[in-house]
Formats: sequence, structure tokens, C-alpha cells
Amino acid sequence: MSLTLNTAYLADFVSPAELQAMEPYVQTAHRLLHDKKGPGNDFLGWLDLGQNHCSGELSRIEAAAQKIKRDSQVLVVIGIGGSYLGARAALDFLRSPHYNALPKDTPDILFAGNTLSPDALHEMLALCRGKDLSLNVISKSGTTTEPALAFRVFRDLVEKKYGKEGARGRIYCTTDKARGTLKTLADREGYESFVIPDDVGGRYSVFTPVGLLPIAVAGCNLTALLDGCAAAEQAYSNPSLAENDAYRYAAIRNILARKGRVSEVLVSYEPAFVMLGEWFKQLFGESEGKDGKGLYPTSMCFSTDLHSLGQYVQEGSPVLFETVLSLKHNRQDFFLEPDGEDFDGLNFLAGQNLSVVNHKAFLGTLLAHLQGGVPNLVVELEDRSEDTFGRLIYFFEKACAVSGYLLGVNPFDQPGVEAYKKNMFALLGKPGFEPEKARLEQLLSDL
Ligand code: PA5
Repeated sequence: MSLTLNTAYLADFVSPAELQAMEPYVQTAHRLLHDKKGPGNDFLGWLDLGQNHCSGELSRIEAAAQKIKRDSQVLVVIGIGGSYLGARAALDFLRSPHYNALPKDTPDILFAGNTLSPDALHEMLALCRGKDLSLNVISKSGTTTEPALAFRVFRDLVEKKYGKEGARGRIYCTTDKARGTLKTLADREGYESFVIPDDVGGRYSVFTPVGLLPIAVAGCNLTALLDGCAAAEQAYSNPSLAENDAYRYAAIRNILARKGRVSEVLVSYEPAFVMLGEWFKQLFGESEGKDGKGLYPTSMCFSTDLHSLGQYVQEGSPVLFETVLSLKHNRQDFFLEPDGEDFDGLNFLAGQNLSVVNHKAFLGTLLAHLQGGVPNLVVELEDRSEDTFGRLIYFFEKACAVSGYLLGVNPFDQPGVEAYKKNMFALLGKPGFEPEKARLEQLLSDL
């Protein structure tokens, strides 16, 4: 298996009997999910995207990616939340966090429309200056403000550069099959569009065109990615807690949370996994954080963050547990040569590979944190291949769905995301929000 959950270090925190006691609850959650009887059961299309290969869209996605690779130096991916985090995580994991700067034969990929900062928008535009561009605007609702605003700006840019007709061949819309202003615009203007299935929510959409088009443009192998996902679908369909790592992980999180470990840190020792941490935070944060419940998901990259947050993890409030992503095989190793002078006293490392030093840092940290009373789970990953990434994403998705049901929440909605939007629209004077505007302005002046 290219992904294994190692729970060997949990003995002091979760007993076999406690885990065994979760079996009936996990079985119930499994049945709710697979019989499609639980809350949010109209959003379960992600369960078998690996086997379904996004309902025949794959060849159109590959063809669009080939065209973008031929005619563009930059692809601007416009989307927010689940409409960009999966592709962003994949790009770093499968290629590199320095993808744009490193030599390659595929276009640069920029991510816009995930902030309202004018500085950020100007910087994106500056990065596009003088380059051949394509746009992939991604929004399931087709109405989200951040991407809609950025799309206005970038659409204008490509229309000015290539004319309306030329722009038409460079704009790709990924949206709902029928609803939303983006779909209406795509139909009216004749932009090529890709469908986000009705039954797949944003944060579960990596294996739909949402993730697949940008990932293909980056030169990654979609078939291997989807095959990895399909293998995970098979592996994590087993209802038995003992034989299903995704369910064991969900059950352990639940036990730890009930013991006061209410925040999970996704740890890695690879900068290429930092954006995966951002995707993970959204997946679990939006899925579980509701009805006054949910574990707080966060992420750290070690050893970097051992020099900033390590102190807190070791000796701070005892609310954390760690899930460590441990990579078995780096793409390339770095051999440490001896130094004649040994001026820095590091010759004890000479003759080693850097991966060994990184691994010892992991083991040393693991022991220190266990001694500090911090529970640690380890997810062992074989490599940074498409297959592993496909399995890993599905592992977390499946665990998150079951974890949500164990908590008694609907893991597929996000009602809390609407609150800030309503206030923002009211304060900006959007028609229809007049009474709310007056009330909010009064509240602000009372502060
Ligand atoms: O997971 C989700 O559903 C959200 O994070 C959405 O992806 C995000 O709010 C963007 O929504 P949309 O794709 O409708 O623009």
C-alpha cells in the first residue's frame, strides 16, 4: 500500500478497548454513508469519482489541457475554497511549491480570485504582463464574489489582448451544469465549460474538472491520479474498523477529541505538503465545525515550524494531537560531503543523505512530543506520485465524512460561510440589503 496509517505511538492515549467500543458507531456511520441515508445524502457523488472518471469528461479535460499547454505561458485559475485548494495542493505535492519558478515545459499556473486584496490582484496582473494567457474560472454556485470580481478583471484583460473572439478560445468555465451566472455567461459567450456534478460539494471536488483541468495543465497524469483514488475507494469501503484505515483514523480523532484533544495538527516534513495542509483545514473545518462541535484543524511544516510553534506543541495547552505525514521516498536525495576543516562541527553528518537527517528529526520530534504528552498518529506515504496523492485525498475525504457522522453533524453543508457574506453585501450597499445595512452601521458605531 502506498498509504498506511500507523497507530503504534498511540498506546498511552487510546486503548484497544476504547477503539473497539467505536465499532458500532463507525458501522452506523458507514451504513448512513453507503446507503445514502445520512444528513447531506444528496452530496455523495465524491464517493466513487475514481471509478467513474468524472462521467466521460476526462478526454475533454485532457484536450483542453493540451490546448492550454500549446497556446499559453500562464494559466490563471480563478476560484476560492474548494474551487482551488485541491488543485493548489496537487500542484505542490506532485510538482513543486516552486513550480512556476523552476524550468518546465508546461505553463505557469497562478491562483487568483481567492482574496479581495487589491495588492494581490495587482501583483497577479503584473505576473501576467506580456505573457500568453488562458483562464480557468471555477465556481460551483457561479455567484461567489471573490472569483466573480477577479474574473471580471481577467476576462477584460484577455478580451483586450486577444479580442472577443480570441478570448473565447482561452476562457474555460468550471461550474454547475445549469444554474448560476457563470453558466449563463459561459453559454452566452460560447466558452468551453466543464460540469461540477450536482452531488459533489466544493471541498470534495478535487477529482472533478475543478481539480483535474489545472492538474492536467501542470503535466500530471490524471489516469494515475484517478486510479489511486479508485484503489482507495475500494480499500476504504470495508466496513470493519480493524481493516479500514480511514475509519480507524476517524474513530481515533473522535476518541481524542472527547479526551480534550480538540485540535488536530496535520504535520509534514515536506514544504511540498504545505498547501495540502490548507486543503485539509478546509475539508475538516467546513465539514465538522458546526452546531458548536468539531475539532479545530491546523497544519505545521517541520522542522521549519519547530522553530516557531514547536514550543507550544511540546509544552503548551494540552489540546493538540498530531497527524504526521511521513514520506518514505523523496524524489531525489542530497548526499552530505565531509568538510576538510569541519569548521561547523557537522562532519558527524558527512556520508549521510539529507533524507536520513530529516527522518531522524521526525523520530526525535515524535519521541519528544510523546514525552510531552501529545498523541501522535502517523500516515506513511510511499512517494509523491499521482497514485499516492489520489489515495491520500480520498483517505481524508472518507475519514472526514465518517468523522462528521460520528460527531452528529452534516459533513456536507457549510451554513456558517454565509454569515460574513450577508454582512459584507449589506455594508457595500447591495440592493435588497438596505435594512440590514442600517442595523450593521448602527452596531459598528456602537463599538
Ligand atoms: O467547500 C465548499 O463548498 C466551499 O468552500 C466552496 O468551494 C467555496 O465557498 C466556493 O464556492 P463556489 O465554488 O460556489 O464559488
